[in-house]
Amino acid sequence: MEEKSIMEKIAEANKAVTKGVDEKEVEHWVTIYIMGKEYKVPAALTIMQAMEYAGYKFIRSCGCRAGFCGACSTVYRKKGEYKLRTAMACQTRVEDGMYLVQIPFAPAEKAIYDINKEQYDISVFFKYYPEITRCVSCNTCTKSCPQDLEVMDYVQAAIKGDFAAVAEGSFECIQCGLCAIRCPADIVQYHLAQLARRMYGRYGSPEEKNVKKRVEEIKKGKFDKEFDRVMSLSSDELKNLYTEQQRTREVY
Ligand code: FES
Repeated sequence: MEEKSIMEKIAEANKAVTKGVDEKEVEHWVTIYIMGKEYKVPAALTIMQAMEYAGYKFIRSCGCRAGFCGACSTVYRKKGEYKLRTAMACQTRVEDGMYLVQIPFAPAEKAIYDINKEQYDISVFFKYYPEITRCVSCNTCTKSCPQDLEVMDYVQAAIKGDFAAVAEGSFECIQCGLCAIRCPADIVQYHLAQLARRMYGRYGSPEEKNVKKRVEEIKKGKFDKEFDRVMSLSSDELKNLYTEQQRTREVY
């Protein structure tokens, strides 16, 4: 079967599954609690769909609906448990007895820097994120990561100044912030990792010759005509062009 493009997956995930649901056709129901209020929802829904089914409209806490953007961070507890769990609302099915809270934004401190003015060595980590020295290796960050990244390992790599290991270990981070919210040492793992990826990309990874060649071609105006054509397209024509490109291109 042909692999679906990201755009097709996003379009599919965006279908209004909660509209037009006939209650008689739903065989299994679960009870969930949103902001402490009880709701009965079809068992097959994701947390995000279940919240919409319950009547919530997402203004924030919702982006791609496909597990890529990190906007739908959720903290929940199951009835009878003390443990706080984390998830992406668009990727996780509801379970009976879930107590749900959305975290649309992690109020974590984000350092401001110019990577062109920074030293490519370990000191940059301690300069902007000195709290990494407080890591007690509890692994809570790893357990809270919805991407199953080894977050604690890349924090330890940062403490050793290993930019490549931090960049590779955090490559699939979607910046949801759940690691930082759960960290008892107040480390901002996801921003630290972003700094490492930027520095590694700027100073540590080998120069990509094809990118350099293409940038020179762009500067010389090789694609000006095509740029002008794209800029003159209507919004519908642009959408069609993008969808067509996604369909014909290998995205993974
Ligand atoms: S809405 Fe984008 S990851 Fe869930």
